[in-house]
Amino acid sequence: MNATECIKTRRSIRKFKPDPVDHVLLESLIETASYSPSWKNSQITRYTAIEDSSILDKIVTDYTPDFNANIIKQAPMLIAVTFVKGRCGYERDGSFSTKKEDRWQMFDVGVASQTFCLAAHEAGLGTVIMGIWDEDGITELLNIPENQELGALIAIGYPDIDPAAPKRKSVNDLLTYL
Ligand SMILES: Cc1cc2nc3c(=O)[nH]c(=O)nc-3n(C[C@H](O)[C@H](O)[C@H](O)COP(=O)(O)O)c2cc1C
Repeated sequence: MNATECIKTRRSIRKFKPDPVDHVLLESLIETASYSPSWKNSQITRYTAIEDSSILDKIVTDYTPDFNANIIKQAPMLIAVTFVKGRCGYERDGSFSTKKEDRWQMFDVGVASQTFCLAAHEAGLGTVIMGIWDEDGITELLNIPENQELGALIAIGYPDIDPAAPKRKSVNDLLTYL
């Protein structure tokens, strides 16, 4: 699979087979994602792989809306993507480098998450990035360290569905030349 094919055929997968995600395979995906670009190579993105059914059940029942709970409850693994705060977008003295202030942190998490999802797709795994969840509840449940913040949840597993690509905007809509 070349890069263009990988990018175009990746879909958000919301239905999974029960097969587990092998840890050696997961670690190879994280290693691939570590090659993502990041602010001054700060590499702030971290991944927590959740397989424990009691933790997953709590996330499903207490901390996600139904449409995401329905995905998580049949996924063999959920990745909590976190980031180390206070480095990306900041100067050494703690001041912001740009007008975007700390928003570069989520930018880097997004870049790393997409790289992770593409690597997973190449390996035959499906993923879906989820942005809607109870941040306070999950932060406490997962014991996310004080110096980190939750950026995204990614369900991962072997796809049990082959969805069509949602419609894309035309290049005309997306691109401006000056
Ligand atoms: C930042 C972000 C947050 C998202 N949050 C959710 C979510 O909470 N639940 C969900 O089912 N999909 C979520 N998605 C997936 C999008 O709905 C999906 O990427 C989009 O519809 C395009 O479909 P595709 O990924 O198959 O190309 C999210 C995607 C991104 C990038």
